[in-house]
Formats: sequence, structure tokens, C-alpha cells
Amino acid sequence: MTKDGSVQGFERVSAADFVPGELRSVSFGSSARICLGNAAGVMFAVADRCPHSDFPMSKGTIVDDKFIECGWHGAQFDCRNGDVVQGPADDPIRTYEVRVADGAIWVRNKP
Ligand code: FES
Repeated sequence: MTKDGSVQGFERVSAADFVPGELRSVSFGSSARICLGNAAGVMFAVADRCPHSDFPMSKGTIVDDKFIECGWHGAQFDCRNGDVVQGPADDPIRTYEVRVADGAIWVRNKP
């Protein structure tokens, strides 16, 4: 963390006031929306568009404390790496690096 409270290389996207199981759509960068989630106390971030048919992942649910399920056709992805766990999606979902610091959620693109 830098002197001004920011996390170097990360963008502040939300307050860290999540409860377990909560999903939230937030802005990231100049145009993207990402879905932040709290999976049993572990924060994660994925693209807020399902790779199957673009439904907002923030309108889905967290399953078994480690998967995110799309609310439209039920595709499931691993919250940590975006791998498809259950179809109909064929492609993984993009994931982002997340930090929690100074009461906020900070995100950056994975290197
Ligand atoms: S839009 Fe997500 S499973 Fe179809």
C-alpha cells in the first residue's frame, strides 16, 4: 500500500462491506463491468458477462462456496480461475486479481 492509501497497480472498485454469498456489479477501468463476490470470506472478481450469452454474472449465485452460477442457463465457473465447471458455457470466464486493503476492494488485470 502506498502513502496515499492506494494499492499500487490496483484500482479501487468498491467498499469492502460484503457479506458471504454476496455478488455485486462494479465498474473497472474505462468501460468494463466486473462482478465482485464473497465466496465464504474469500473475495474474487470475474467479468460481469457470462461467456455463454452475456447474462450479468452479478445476477447469479455462489454455489458450494467456490463456484459462481449464471442466473440464466445455469453455467458454473470456478471463482478462482474461471474454469467451466458446468455447461452450457464452453469457454472460461475472465478473472481478475483482487486485494482487500484499507476497507476497500482493489482489482487489477492478471499479469
Ligand atoms: S447466459 Fe450464462 S449460462 Fe447462458
